[in-house]
Amino acid sequence: MVQQDSDDRKVTTHRLLEMKQSGIKIAALTAYDATMAELLDAAGVDLLLVGDSVAMVMQGLDTTVTVSMETMLYHATLVRRGVSRALVVGDLPFMSYQVNSDEALRNAGRMVKEAGVEAVKLEGGEVIAKTVRRIVDVGIPVMGHLGLTPQSIHKFGTYQVRAREPEEADVLRRDAERLEAAGAFAIVLEKVPHSLAAQVAKDRTVPIIGIGAGSGCDGQILVSHDMLGLYTRFKPRFVRRYGEIAKAMGRAFEDYVHDVRAGEFPNLDESYE
Ligand code: KIV
Repeated sequence: MVQQDSDDRKVTTHRLLEMKQSGIKIAALTAYDATMAELLDAAGVDLLLVGDSVAMVMQGLDTTVTVSMETMLYHATLVRRGVSRALVVGDLPFMSYQVNSDEALRNAGRMVKEAGVEAVKLEGGEVIAKTVRRIVDVGIPVMGHLGLTPQSIHKFGTYQVRAREPEEADVLRRDAERLEAAGAFAIVLEKVPHSLAAQVAKDRTVPIIGIGAGSGCDGQILVSHDMLGLYTRFKPRFVRRYGEIAKAMGRAFEDYVHDVRAGEFPNLDESYE
């Protein structure tokens, strides 16, 4: 039976935990601007992630590694303006939190104070746990990200499924435990076997939000441009397209070009006396 959430109060990290405890699945998507954020919020999406995937779907880059703190702050500010219900989480970009925990704290603080997000996300497990603790201790909620962590793509060398081997699965389970112990309020699990993800969701108290991690997670997240069929350079198997927006936009642009060339736009109703 589908557990519905008819609660239209502002979503908080506490509410997400309640949702897990009541078996209500968490629906999360990415957002990068105010117009899209408004639509996502009105549709009842619980958590909006201002993802560093902005590098790929908006900046036209091949990876997320080069995106800057300033870019993330800019997009997070736009998204925050469009939202009244969903929890807004800002991604900390590569090398904005790895050098030391002072720098991580400063950048997490900028996300909250300058962009107005309510939480930050960072990638990694045990190695980042002390940093997570410090950020949480000053009052900033942190969401973890394990499995395929795109900021480490140059180390992995491929976007293939992670943690298929028992050793890597053990490390992932331990990393999830460490993040929870460090105070993370939720963990994104990307592109790992569904049985492993289901086990982690069962073992952990905090919500496990899957992307390419099967239906046993406490919630799901996708890149909005992927699920809309707006970003079409490639389509991972885990993406379900709920629209073919790139095709619809292409048709609209062609119709416009046709109408301008034919002198059919604008007509009298679209002109002034
Ligand atoms: O940057 C992003 O969009 C993400 C999601 C894929 C979870 O981290």
